[in-house]
Amino acid sequence: MPAHLPIEVYATPRHFLGMPPARFLRDYWQKRPLLVRNAFANFQPPLMPDDLAGLACMDGALARIVAHASLPLCSPRAQRSGDPESGAGKNAKRLDSRLRGDDGEWTVRTGPFDEITFANLPASRWTLLVQDVDKWDADTAALLDHFAFIPSWRIDDIMISYATDAGGVGAHVDQYDVFLLQGLGQRRWAIDANPNPPAAFRDDVELKLLKSFTPSDEWILNPGDLLYLPPGVPHDGVAVGECMTYSIGMRAPGVAEMLLDMAHAIAAALPEEHRYRDADLAPARQSGEIDAAALARARRSVGAFASALDDDVLADWFGCFITRYRMAQTPLPRKRPLDAARLPERLARSVLARDAWSRFAWRRRGRNAIVYASGEAFPAPPDWAAALGGSERVIDGGTLLGMPNRQDGIRLLAALINAGHFTLRVH
Ligand code: SIN
Ligand code: CO
Repeated sequence: MPAHLPIEVYATPRHFLGMPPARFLRDYWQKRPLLVRNAFANFQPPLMPDDLAGLACMDGALARIVAHASLPLCSPRAQRSGDPESGAGKNAKRLDSRLRGDDGEWTVRTGPFDEITFANLPASRWTLLVQDVDKWDADTAALLDHFAFIPSWRIDDIMISYATDAGGVGAHVDQYDVFLLQGLGQRRWAIDANPNPPAAFRDDVELKLLKSFTPSDEWILNPGDLLYLPPGVPHDGVAVGECMTYSIGMRAPGVAEMLLDMAHAIAAALPEEHRYRDADLAPARQSGEIDAAALARARRSVGAFASALDDDVLADWFGCFITRYRMAQTPLPRKRPLDAARLPERLARSVLARDAWSRFAWRRRGRNAIVYASGEAFPAPPDWAAALGGSERVIDGGTLLGMPNRQDGIRLLAALINAGHFTLRVH
């Protein structure tokens, strides 16, 4: 960590990350961890443990309970001493990992749960995790407003965990950037900020836990403290008493996923007559041989792939792909299509509520724009694209009516409403 880039900072009244977003993006984003003390001053958690348990009992909620058996421990101080990776030997390593809570028997259960499940859990060493809470709870979703400096299509969800004392999910790495906001109580976070940390997983547990984890930094986080971790930084959070953690998680598609999807999109647009051609075929020297000329032809045939990838094709593919990527629920199209002619009159007395599961992005295209909504592209006037394709959860109908290109805008909006991405609510 360069000396001028501290790993721990305090929030300032103007900047919750302790620095302007541009500086955070330049120095920390995807590069190095950052702990921001008091990022959310006097943080009032939108959900309490009982609310989270209630959500975990609902059909459709993505909930897990991770528990690990408690092991008899001797004095914690004695166990901590000794570097597990150095000469201290096997025993020291084992004891250290016990203390961290990443040894013993781990169990993972998936929801939905019921009251009996919760009633039968032990007093400590378990944690409940619920994903996509921002889709269920508008107050939780409002936390995302603080992260508006990141494109909305890069943000995946807010996962909330509730842990009893010593609860956690063990030492692991995530493939995505994450902001870990302490919501309630305290959690001890240990991370390994060294370059190229060991990445092997244990093979004796269902969870993807790291075989070896040697923290470089440890802190206790209090409510309102925020720990940013770029992808690939090993971390382990252990509750100190009961606690809740809000994980604001990003999404970044794997290049393999992108290639497969892109190949699909381009292939679908290629006419059937585009085939492997060999008008220059010379008599085969040996039957069955794939010769250099054949390989050159193969390369030429799939070269269509590369040439099909002009800027617009790439952009449309990416817009559709990224708004479909990791979409947990598809919005339901409206049962009775809306009469677009009547839409302006209805808009004047309504607000538009965005479907919580819909994913949006947009781009400019010449003097026009395109809105991407959950994998579909919609031509749009630029102002309308910016208003509808961003992350506002509620949009005032009157504001839309005052924007230029009203006719095209209304057509777009009607299509989005009919596809289930927005609903009208009379105010
Ligand atoms: C948790 O909230 O317990 C886990 C969050 C994480 O490590 O990504
Ligand atoms: Co994690």
